[in-house]
Amino acid sequence: MSLRKPPLPRLLLNNISCMRNAQQILRHVNATVHDGGALVLMGTNGSGKTTFLRMLAGFSKPSAGQTPSKRSSQSSTMFSGLKSLEGKMGNSLPALELMGLGRLAKELSMGQRKRLQLARLLAIDRPIWLLDEPSVALDADGVKLLEYIIAEHRKKGGMVIVATHLPIEIEDATYLGLPPRFPRRMTSIDMLDRFNI
Ligand SMILES: Nc1ncnc2c1ncn2[C@@H]1O[C@H](COP(=O)(O)OP(=O)(O)O)[C@@H](O)[C@H]1O
Ligand SMILES: [Mg+2]
Repeated sequence: MSLRKPPLPRLLLNNISCMRNAQQILRHVNATVHDGGALVLMGTNGSGKTTFLRMLAGFSKPSAGQTPSKRSSQSSTMFSGLKSLEGKMGNSLPALELMGLGRLAKELSMGQRKRLQLARLLAIDRPIWLLDEPSVALDADGVKLLEYIIAEHRKKGGMVIVATHLPIEIEDATYLGLPPRFPRRMTSIDMLDRFNI
């Protein structure tokens, strides 16, 4: 029998709640992720996925509970590697312009821009990936590539936290479903679905 203790989680979210504009966006969320692990936040538009990622990145603070940024020295190592890829082209555009490729980059389709963002993600080589809707605008091959680079990153001990409203295949991921924030009014499409018309 092995006496080795299981490794401590690198990401430990303890009863997290988050307010935005005096409204409760997240309520009592708990999650743990280990090195090489993946957390997938699923939820409809407005359910709080981006808010959750921004809080993990340290851009906003939880109104209650504990995130790694409040815990010991582990957090500083964990988040020191964080680099935002927010924005269409992020800060790669000046570099592309310098190399005479700016116009080309500006003419890319949305899916191609998404691929460029993923290429930058690989190039900067960070241990923790926070990916907000990474598969939006990608074609089927692009989604497969995304799933592949996530798997390879995890094999090297990297961690991935993905927020998505679309299905994505990530092996052994922990799935966290965020409930819709406002019960939506029924649309005619919902009614057709509900009554099987
Ligand atoms: N900058 C902001 N100021 C105030 N409220 C916001 C802001 N951004 C988002 N929200 C609100 O927070 C809720 C969650 O938004 P968000 O986290 O972007 O959802 P998701 O990413 O799941 O679509 C939404 O109801 C939205 O109206
Ligand atoms: Mg979002």
